[in-house]
Amino acid sequence: MGGAIGMCYISNMLTTILTTGWGLRYPIIGAPMANIAHGRLARAITAAGGLGMIGIGGKETPEVIERESAIARGGKFGIGLLAWVLDAKPELFDIAVQQQPFLISISFGSVRPYADRLHNAGILLATQVNSRAAAVEAQSAGADIIVAQGTEAGGHTGSVGTLPLLQMVLDTVSKPAIAAGGIASPRGVAAALAAGAAGVWVGTAFLLCPESLTTDDAGRRIVAASENDTILTPVFDRANRQGWPPQHPGRALKNSFTEQWHGREQELVANAAEMARFRAGADARDYDITSIFAGQAVGMLDQRRSAEEVVRSLGDGAEQLLRTRASELLGD
Ligand SMILES: Cc1cc2nc3c(=O)[nH]c(=O)nc-3n(C[C@H](O)[C@H](O)[C@H](O)COP(=O)(O)O)c2cc1C
Repeated sequence: MGGAIGMCYISNMLTTILTTGWGLRYPIIGAPMANIAHGRLARAITAAGGLGMIGIGGKETPEVIERESAIARGGKFGIGLLAWVLDAKPELFDIAVQQQPFLISISFGSVRPYADRLHNAGILLATQVNSRAAAVEAQSAGADIIVAQGTEAGGHTGSVGTLPLLQMVLDTVSKPAIAAGGIASPRGVAAALAAGAAGVWVGTAFLLCPESLTTDDAGRRIVAASENDTILTPVFDRANRQGWPPQHPGRALKNSFTEQWHGREQELVANAAEMARFRAGADARDYDITSIFAGQAVGMLDQRRSAEEVVRSLGDGAEQLLRTRASELLGD
């Protein structure tokens, strides 16, 4: 299979706007993941035929955007920003635009203040939505790409599952819709594309790639985790004193800290000793205390694989599956 991919007479077999319009080999976007997906992972995903993105959260500085964009710049890349962070640090938006990425995503808040500037700069604007109403608003606010992000997703998300949300978004918006949340195998990619998605936005499946910033200890815990070992919780955001909007808790691996404090966040922030214990644990990367953000697809991850292997196996596997299933289901 691998040999055939390198042959130039093989055209894009999965045909969506991401392959025909954007020129990708596979309609697969490597999700922006703050502290995890920086330039090296983005570059590897793009080199393998997808579109890699750099995640910029509340802690990343303008220098990080410049440095990581320089690493990713060998090919097309995207930068993922957080709307509520931009409210406090508008300079992050300016620096991101200056890097001239192919695409910028702005999630967890409104894209409206940024749409014109991105379009004038020739940069595509994507945003993740968690409800039908948010999809309608995103489209009217100028988003070019609407990412239906289901609650299965790792990191911050909403409360509606990927499948119902994707159906609603596809029925509601005219812009290309992309599926995110819980997609980590060819079956998931095939299902999203068969439903009508223009592509998939994949985070958790890349957590074990050596090109990510996942630490060895976190990687061991990810391998050991099953699909039942995540929790959607605001506890880490409150403990970090980060300004995450309360309607977007984060999905992370359960640990002793979530067992103790999930649902008791107000009590936690009032407890100086526990807040100090959290800070020390986070600084020491003690994952019994601090977060490993990961989605329910974590139950499908059992080995470290390069970003190239992940992209190719998702893309080629989905293509094969769609061919065989279509003929099984519909006949030749
Ligand atoms: C570790 C981690 C960090 C994330 N950081 C961000 C981020 O900085 N910005 C963002 O828009 N989304 C972020 N997300 C969400 C992803 O963009 C995406 O929606 C999600 O990974 C898709 O679901 P999946 O993890 O099941 O593939 C993050 C996800 C993970 C797992």
